Amino acid sequence: MPDSSLLPAIGTLRADFPILGTMARGKPLVYLDSAATSQKPRQVIEAITRYYESENGNIHRGVHYLSERATVLYDETREATRRFINARSTREVIFTRGTTEAINLVAHGFGSAVLRPGDRVLVSTLEHHSNIVPWQLACERSGATLAAIPVLDDGSLDLAAFDGLLDDRVKLVAVTWVSNALGTISPVAELVRRAHARAIPVLLDGAQAAPHIAVDVQAIGCDFFACSGHKMLGPTGVGVLYGTEQWLDRLPPYQGGGDMIDTVTFERTTFAPLPSKFEAGTPDIAAVVAFRAALDYLTTVGLDAIAAHEHALVEEATARLSAIPGVHIIGTATPKAGVVSFTMDCAHPHDIGTVLDSEGIAIRAGHHCAQPLMRRFGVPSTARASFYLYNTAEDVDALVRGVERVRQLFT
Ligand code: ALA
Repeated sequence: MPDSSLLPAIGTLRADFPILGTMARGKPLVYLDSAATSQKPRQVIEAITRYYESENGNIHRGVHYLSERATVLYDETREATRRFINARSTREVIFTRGTTEAINLVAHGFGSAVLRPGDRVLVSTLEHHSNIVPWQLACERSGATLAAIPVLDDGSLDLAAFDGLLDDRVKLVAVTWVSNALGTISPVAELVRRAHARAIPVLLDGAQAAPHIAVDVQAIGCDFFACSGHKMLGPTGVGVLYGTEQWLDRLPPYQGGGDMIDTVTFERTTFAPLPSKFEAGTPDIAAVVAFRAALDYLTTVGLDAIAAHEHALVEEATARLSAIPGVHIIGTATPKAGVVSFTMDCAHPHDIGTVLDSEGIAIRAGHHCAQPLMRRFGVPSTARASFYLYNTAEDVDALVRGVERVRQLFT
């Protein structure tokens, strides 16, 4: 059985998440959809309430008490985020709405300032649509083309093919660290090393990595890194783009508006220095402020303890689901983050999801915004259970019982 003692305070920890006490369809909720969005601890919920009850003001704009207070809280979160990902400077930490917006920001800049006809952007077959479509748009605008690193049958990247694709046409490698659909953890430091050997910059989609793996952007050496607060116990509406100063200085602003300018005349505008250059308009200040509480929570529990706990749950779930006749695990590479993706001979993933839902068990069924990956495995969709720090051995039991029930109903 999974060793829940890896997180010694698991009982107390679950009590921090009020929603885990919910009854779903008349049954106690079993939440196995954290890859879609994580649940929030009381500390984060209270930070949002506290912000609106006693701290709300617009940032970087006023001399009054509340504006100063909100500004301090917002800027403190930037410093906490810098520490969390080990960026060199807060100038390298841009707040966005989420990973999608962060990638769009970089793709927009590359489309206008870097990519030229004949250039290439290299993504991988593991990508979420949000690390494919922005590059297609940038390629359309610039005359560049998109290519994809293939994946092997176990769901890992084909590194030999990657080497073959790295040629002088490639102006950026944009890859996911952890696959949202399969859980595969890619060897990102090695990918960066190989790309940098040819002076090619690398963007990492860290949406599914940052909740589970300690991030050190300097150690990995990536040029850009993106993640989403809502998958890391934080609120929706806040995400992070890390970029090296060298690259962020080179890219043009993504949106124009307040807070991102130095001077404006009708003839010409000069832009604010980093990070403000990329933060036009009033951001989701409450979300940013509450994100700080999520970062503190993850740091207190410890990313290594979280990863070990999830690993035990995923191993257990994989072994027990594999033993059920007609169940096929899609993506068997190691290492894997907290995801088990599977199909059943007897039932469509949506039917699996619906039967599990009737038992109070939340999983995701579908293409997981990764249609090229589904095509690679010859399936239209999968059922995906995703685990996080608040999941338990009992949750695995419930999942296995639910899948056995699907088999009884459909065979
Ligand atoms: N990208 C999120 C997921 O994988 C929504 O479910």
